[in-house]
Amino acid sequence: MSPAPRPADAPGTSEDVTGTVSDRKGDTHTHAYPRREASPPPVDTACPPPEPGTRFGTYVLRDKLGEGVSCLVFRGWDEALGSPVALKVLNWANVYDRAAALKQLRTEAAALARVKHPRVVRFLDFGFDPRWPYLVTELFDGRPLGELLRAGGALPPRWALYLVSQMADALGAVWQAGLVHRDVKPDNILVGADGVGKLIDFGLAKGAGKGSADGSAPELAGTAAYLAPEQATDAAAVDHRADIYSLGVTLYEALTGRLPFEGRNRVQVIFGHLNTPPVPPVQWVPEVPGLASDLCLWMLSKSPADRPQNHAELRQAFDTVMGAAR
Ligand SMILES: Nc1ncnc2c1ncn2[C@@H]1O[C@H](COP(=O)(O)OP(=O)(O)OP(=O)(O)O)[C@@H](O)[C@H]1O
Ligand SMILES: [Mg+2]
Repeated sequence: MSPAPRPADAPGTSEDVTGTVSDRKGDTHTHAYPRREASPPPVDTACPPPEPGTRFGTYVLRDKLGEGVSCLVFRGWDEALGSPVALKVLNWANVYDRAAALKQLRTEAAALARVKHPRVVRFLDFGFDPRWPYLVTELFDGRPLGELLRAGGALPPRWALYLVSQMADALGAVWQAGLVHRDVKPDNILVGADGVGKLIDFGLAKGAGKGSADGSAPELAGTAAYLAPEQATDAAAVDHRADIYSLGVTLYEALTGRLPFEGRNRVQVIFGHLNTPPVPPVQWVPEVPGLASDLCLWMLSKSPADRPQNHAELRQAFDTVMGAAR
């Protein structure tokens, strides 16, 4: 039996996702697909959420892996290639602004398609089913770091450093591709059984030096607990060093099991990012090596200019700290 045509061969799929982003003025990304003007076919926004067994072209949904603000994520199976995949599907039921949600998923697909790195989940496909738009990525067998921290508290320092240093490498590839992730946090890092991590969720990624990856005006994006000070005060000024700050918050949480700034609401948390010096991780957990605590505080500098400036500097710092901790 010959397989049904893949959604990627239909109009309004990954080709124009990449093409759309590349069409924007000043976008230096070179795309692998021929440029083509195409608008997505209208989607039926009234249908109920997808469930296991639902078919998208050659993909079949299996069990649900996760659920976010606007999307459901399923383990799936690609019948054409006989391989497991992950499918992120828009959940219309949770979406207020449907056009914006659709645009965000397209933007996420386009951003992910630019980044190729073993520590970043791999883009496979994007399609418009008549019922739901969906993004297909490699399936990674792991648990979100956020879940691990909520269940078990701080990680042993060496494991925390190893994991977060992998994410520094993943982000190096993201920045190299001209993007800022803008949503670095433990819930967007998957951890495999062997302690290897993968960066996921490019839903807020933006082109470096631009308002946002889809060309819209800068907005306050990100999760308050992980937000760099400049993300809260001047969204247009955000560059890759905001990701370094958010990775610093992630390292802090992995080392200590707590956040550097807490509060009863978003405003209080943001006030902490802007004005309060963080308590050094070693003061919460004496087993944390002093150098690791210092690196964490360096990444959490209030001013982007005072943080590690790029991937090379960050990688070198992790190597030093991990070398000393051996
Ligand atoms: N490639 C993947 N392999 C395995 N599990 C995944 C994969 N992608 C996502 N997941 C699971 O789905 C959950 C949600 O994924 P993701 O963070 O991309 O969506 P989200 O938080 O809903 O996004 P958004 O914030 O854009 O609404 C993850 O925490 C993880 O459990
Ligand atoms: Mg997420």
